[in-house]
Amino acid sequence: MSSSRIAAFYRLTVEERRRKLAEALDLSPAEIQALEAADALPLDVADIMVENAVATFALPFGVALNFQVNGRDHVIPMVVEEPSVIAAASNAALVARAGGGFAAEADPGAAVERLGAARARILAAAEELTPGLCRRGAGPRDVEVRLVRSARGETMVVVHLLLDTGDAMGANAVNSLVEALAPMVEEIAGGTTCLRILSNLADRRLARAAVRIPFAALARDGMDGAQVAERILWAYEFAAADPYRAATHNKGIMNGIDALAVATGNDWRAIEAGAHAYAARAGSYGSLTTWGTEDGHLLGSIELPMAVSTVGPLVQSHPRVRLALRLLGVASARELAAVMAAVGLASNLGAMRALTTEGIQKGHMALHARAVSHAAGARGEEAEELRRRLVAAGEVKIDRARELLRALESRS
Ligand code: MEV
Repeated sequence: MSSSRIAAFYRLTVEERRRKLAEALDLSPAEIQALEAADALPLDVADIMVENAVATFALPFGVALNFQVNGRDHVIPMVVEEPSVIAAASNAALVARAGGGFAAEADPGAAVERLGAARARILAAAEELTPGLCRRGAGPRDVEVRLVRSARGETMVVVHLLLDTGDAMGANAVNSLVEALAPMVEEIAGGTTCLRILSNLADRRLARAAVRIPFAALARDGMDGAQVAERILWAYEFAAADPYRAATHNKGIMNGIDALAVATGNDWRAIEAGAHAYAARAGSYGSLTTWGTEDGHLLGSIELPMAVSTVGPLVQSHPRVRLALRLLGVASARELAAVMAAVGLASNLGAMRALTTEGIQKGHMALHARAVSHAAGARGEEAEELRRRLVAAGEVKIDRARELLRALESRS
């Protein structure tokens, strides 16, 4: 796409936004149909996706704008219930544009080292078991053996099979493979295998993103950019030094990553598990991002495991997952992982910039007021009027909304 910057997009009606998106991305009639269909996930598809399906569950599907990653513009599809996530990510991406956007990359997998005799045998068997992956240039890469000591003082032997899963997330590929290899491993080790399962700490599959923003683009709420940058550094150092703060700091990062993961049909629990384990890899839990300053610029970077997929049955059968990938315009799982890292970095920047200046509640409450006004029973123009009054009253609560609604209705 030429630009992910569509001015005043949030002011348009839903229909106008759809039209703008269709124009900007040159969507086909089938893609427009997937965007507009009331039934985003047909029940018969839901039924084959999980056991015991009885219904489907909808969440808002929005797009974050202004994203530039490695010089390319991306519209970021996001599925999320929290009001400020998309607004904050779009806003931070606009700030990052001032410094040329995000530079991001994702590792393809481990480098292959020379293997010992048993390793070579296991690897050869693994290759035989994964002909499809091997044909696509992916497949088994290495075998590693570790010893882990249990709390009872027992020593456990852990065999890691490093598998490049190509454009798939790979959980099924890994789990099938290790189950099939287990008898051979038992025979070589002279023991019994117990668990045969992937690790979500996918630290050979890291995604990284970096950003360099001129101070001037950070100015806000009467503070100049250098002041904001300094406060952001304090916020970062706080997260880096304190697990209580790091948990919330990283939650803000995952706001954006998870929303994009859900929109693209990825396993966000796996991504969450990997991210938090990675944040604790040094022995204490810390920040997933790093921030610093240099020559009048704020520099930020992120690195985290990113096991994601752009292929598989869900992409084939869920029309809106297919649409999300089309909106995003990525060609591979590696590219998706890189964009996800950039979205996480943007979410962190947006949160820290708001937190260190006016705070997050003003913006959050302005958005939350729409939901509260709807929950109180207001609709259409009345809902908008009630939203304004709630914000003006500075009390965005359901009881207050009902009270204000009654006053509004008694006047008309
Ligand atoms: C809220 O969903 C996310 C934040 O709490 C993140 C943070 O504190 O950095 C704003």
